[in-house]
Amino acid sequence: MREKLQKIRENAIAEIEKSEGLERLNEVRQTILGKKGELTAVLKAMKEVAPQDRPKVGQWVNETREAIESHLTARLKKLEEAALLARYESEKIDITMPAEKHQKGNLHPITQIRNQLIDIFGSMGFEVYEGTEIETDYYNFTALNTPDDHPARDMQDTFYLSPEYLLCTQTSAGQIHVMEEKKPPIKIVSPGKVFRSDDDATHSPMFTQMEGLVVDKGITLCDLKGMLDVFVRKIFGDGITTRLRPSYFPFTEPSVEVDVSCFQCGGSGCRLCKGTGWIEVLGAGVVNNRVLEGCGIDTEIYSGFAFGIGMERIAMLKYGINNIKLMFESDLRVLNQISD
Ligand code: DAH
Repeated sequence: MREKLQKIRENAIAEIEKSEGLERLNEVRQTILGKKGELTAVLKAMKEVAPQDRPKVGQWVNETREAIESHLTARLKKLEEAALLARYESEKIDITMPAEKHQKGNLHPITQIRNQLIDIFGSMGFEVYEGTEIETDYYNFTALNTPDDHPARDMQDTFYLSPEYLLCTQTSAGQIHVMEEKKPPIKIVSPGKVFRSDDDATHSPMFTQMEGLVVDKGITLCDLKGMLDVFVRKIFGDGITTRLRPSYFPFTEPSVEVDVSCFQCGGSGCRLCKGTGWIEVLGAGVVNNRVLEGCGIDTEIYSGFAFGIGMERIAMLKYGINNIKLMFESDLRVLNQISD
């Protein structure tokens, strides 16, 4: 019996030391100590041992079991340590290795201008209203006091989807939605894409505008001029001034074209301002009473001003871009250069 146990012990220890993985070690444990294991079989056979020999044999079995278990534990520890070391090794990083370079993206110039305008008008207390790209003839023209025979309604200027629906030609349509939804005081800007059948170096069939509308008690053209002066300094730089020239829009009375003093030559005349010292940047005016009244606003109490800015025009002036197409061609060599 003693020899048999000795053999089990030697075999077990040899197998344990040979085990290369945790799985194999577990198998070895099962074949010796498991339910059907070799040592378990010896224990089961104890009843055949003569009663007077049982304590001694029992002691040998226990010693064998302890010896095997302590080897199993030691081997387990070793294998676990080796696994950990292997993991450390495989996860090792060389911190002296030069980093992989990632190309840094850039916001599109129109997005940059849009964000700047929203920041500037936001700082003056304007809220942002976003209109839709598909509009009805009513919001785009009729409610803006545009006569039925106005040339802007012409098939050649407007993309009609049906007699009633069209692609929004001006963010001014948003003015009507806002005035229908809200009572004065109103102070909003409304950025959006607009569409017109127009295509040359400075016009694109799709471009981006930002509308502004203020309606409150006692609003005059002076408020518009004061706000514009602040705005142009923030977007084009200190020292820039504005000039208002009479113009015509159906939805404003009086209507003005707004020029800024040329930020390239300072007003003395250059190529950018075509020698005039002034650059036209936007259209504006005092909201026509017919528009306010159409939206149920009492013109005895309230008045307003409105303005419409072409964002591509601002971007072209600010970043010195001479062809509007450059902004829609997605040429990264161009777009990557344009950033504040
Ligand atoms: N909607 C005009 C356009 O697309 C721009 C404009 C002019 C908007 C005067 C206004 C305004 O709000 O008062 O040409």
